[in-house]
Amino acid sequence: MFFVAGATGNVGSQVVRKLSESGVGVKAQTRSSTGGKVAELQRLPGVEIVACDLMDKAGLAEALQGVKAVFLVCGNAKEQAQMEINVIDAAVAAGCTYLVENGTHAGYTNKDSPVEFGRHHWEIEEHLAKSAGAMKWTVLHANWFMSNHLGDIFGTLPNGAIVYPLKPEDKAQLVDPRDVGDIAAQMLLDSDPSKYHGLHLMISGPDVLTWSQIAALYTEELGRPIEMATCSEPEWVAAAIKGSGFEHWLAEAAAHNFKVIRDGGFLHTTSPQLLALAPPRRTMKEWIAEWAPRSPPPPAAQ
Ligand SMILES: NC(=O)c1ccc[n+]([C@@H]2O[C@H](COP(=O)([O-])OP(=O)(O)OC[C@H]3O[C@@H](n4cnc5c(N)ncnc54)[C@H](OP(=O)(O)O)[C@@H]3O)[C@@H](O)[C@H]2O)c1
Repeated sequence: MFFVAGATGNVGSQVVRKLSESGVGVKAQTRSSTGGKVAELQRLPGVEIVACDLMDKAGLAEALQGVKAVFLVCGNAKEQAQMEINVIDAAVAAGCTYLVENGTHAGYTNKDSPVEFGRHHWEIEEHLAKSAGAMKWTVLHANWFMSNHLGDIFGTLPNGAIVYPLKPEDKAQLVDPRDVGDIAAQMLLDSDPSKYHGLHLMISGPDVLTWSQIAALYTEELGRPIEMATCSEPEWVAAAIKGSGFEHWLAEAAAHNFKVIRDGGFLHTTSPQLLALAPPRRTMKEWIAEWAPRSPPPPAAQ
């Protein structure tokens, strides 16, 4: 039996899908037992929905009984460190043999990070390394998710632009979070995950793209001109709060990614072990072909 925390999210839902496809039993954790994403997971063979808040230690202790391996991801939240630490402690107490944790950008995962969720991830990873006991573990550090575009630009696409505090020539090796999920599932299913024990592994998508190339892909897919426009970081933060509903602290923290991109920090490749296991294959072109048609139309067509 496997346990996936954060099962309704971008990465967790793919881990559940892949584990289900391989024929094993999966406990899929979510705070709510209703909603479209839960219903989708519920339809998968071998999947049991576990409705439990990650702050509920007793609920987690019960849910982790009989579980062999755990995938741990949680959306960025003020309580993220405590929530993930609760899962780690429950997994150790239940005698789980392996846990894969979804980290964030390794470059800003530290105690004094300017990025608040970078400090949360540091606390989680410190706890994991110190408290895992006999349980084996691995931390994954993925590149910027392609799915960030859903929150970031769908408000500006109708006006013919993607708008970031970046130059058109800035570039990154963005990854589809489903590729991260594919890798994590393969690791959990491995007959000897001890070869990944204690490792911090990197994951990036298959292509390096500039922001102007990304705009060109939107242009091609939507059949109308989409330009790459530059805004200031405070403008992006304000738009993320007003347009996409980010909490203020999270918008400020997420905006730090643009400095990392400008400095080339998102040009890392995937760790060789993971390239051998399940190489990330979903391209930005494919992601845009899948998602751009769902974006709102330009005002004239509304
Ligand atoms: N975005 C990126 O570019 C990027 C890149 C690398 C790493 N990361 C890291 O990846 C993680 C996010 O992964 P993801 O996109 O798969 O996650 P997600 O979809 O944002 O969230 C995963 C799940 O977390 C659960 N959750 C529980 N408590 C929560 C709370 N208080 N606030 C928000 N969600 C909560 C939610 O499930 P229920 O509502 O069903 O309970 C949600 O579906 C973060 O830790 C982030 O630092 C992100």
